[in-house]
Amino acid sequence: MHSFVWHPYTQMNDWKKFDVITKGKGMWLYDSNGNALMDGVASMWCNVWGHSKKELTETITKQAKTLQHSSLFNLTNDKAESLAEKLVKLAPEMYRVFYSDDGSTAMEISAKMALQYWSNIGEKKTKFVSLENGYHGDTIGAMSLGYVPLFFSKFKSSLFPVLRTPSPNRYRTPKGYSFEDYQEFCLERIEQIFSKNNNIAAFVMESGAQIAGGVVIYPKGFQKKISKLCKKYNILLILDEIATGFGRLGSMIEYKNQESIPDIVSFGKMLSGGYLPLAATLANKKVYDSFLGEYKDMKHFFHGHTFTGNPLACALALRNISLYKKYNLISKIKKREAQIKSRIKEITDLDLVGDVRHKGMMMGIELVSDKKTKTTISPQKRLPQKIFNEAKKHGIYQRTLGPIVMVIPPLAISESELDFLLDGTIKTIRNVSSQI
Ligand SMILES: Cc1ncc(COP(=O)(O)O)c(C=O)c1O
Repeated sequence: MHSFVWHPYTQMNDWKKFDVITKGKGMWLYDSNGNALMDGVASMWCNVWGHSKKELTETITKQAKTLQHSSLFNLTNDKAESLAEKLVKLAPEMYRVFYSDDGSTAMEISAKMALQYWSNIGEKKTKFVSLENGYHGDTIGAMSLGYVPLFFSKFKSSLFPVLRTPSPNRYRTPKGYSFEDYQEFCLERIEQIFSKNNNIAAFVMESGAQIAGGVVIYPKGFQKKISKLCKKYNILLILDEIATGFGRLGSMIEYKNQESIPDIVSFGKMLSGGYLPLAATLANKKVYDSFLGEYKDMKHFFHGHTFTGNPLACALALRNISLYKKYNLISKIKKREAQIKSRIKEITDLDLVGDVRHKGMMMGIELVSDKKTKTTISPQKRLPQKIFNEAKKHGIYQRTLGPIVMVIPPLAISESELDFLLDGTIKTIRNVSSQI
């Protein structure tokens, strides 16, 4: 089959053809030849219940027959309204919801909201501070906020300047520091920047963990201390829960777990169960109120998209959220998390494995060419492609991020399915070791 599709983050010369997925059922994807692959990355970290979940597909069909799309420009729709109410109830101290279609856009909105907030109240605060190796999406603004050198160096000259501070990674703590000392150092750096610059609009970070930056899970209290610094210096805190909210780390709202209340927070991916594109940016009352005034004041938010508040996606998200309670998903995730934990040693003992980091339903396995020196595997070794091909032999769809094997299954994976995934991951790493 000749293909006209250009694939993301893919050297198209390397791929003569792609497996064509024609069906999804539960944790499994089926290709056009009938082969089954377990969805080991939850279709880019967004799938909650597995594929073709009846309650969700029924909701889509029913809503499509009633109202498939209507705009939020001058109008509203019942599903966008109900979902916003639900989200505001779930997310402590959030007050209003601004809808968009994907995580990157939600982060653009977060940044614009923060900038316009300061403009609305007549203060000149225009700079952002964020954590090194944070990731907030692939659009120009989101790339500026979350600069991952490997991904974004080609675009650097067009990105807006953002002050960056280091984030603590236990495995890669710089020489001369204990992990605890290094955390303190990271916090001191943030405070130094906050105290020396009176033009900072917001601090931006992923909530709970940095995912694309290498599955780096924050130590307890780190995020909370940052939120306190933001309060102390009157700087907005923007949290990105696109990959970490709605159960991925074992909590519905991760910032609640981290005891760090943001001013602005974005959700995406799992919000709609991973079935339709939907994201939401929530703001607290302080931020929202600054946008109110006379029309001539021009304080209203200058942002909007064609599909903002799409009723199909909102109906789906409402149903998805209702299922968390019905199926007791968060407590199931805790059980699966314990299951992952019980197998960590097996994984750590493998030849190439330098470090294993996990929380909730997310695990990153960092592969190195030398365990002692923690030397990174050279990109020349084509590790991601080798892992992908080997994992397929064990019935798994796996996608690595550079040298990190990501195990990020749909949240509702069963005990036996998770064992299948972990067994296959172990076999994959073992077999790839001999090719590195
Ligand atoms: C933390 C975080 N923020 C934002 C995004 C961007 O989301 P999207 O790919 O839907 O644009 C991602 C995507 O992986 C993410 O992990």
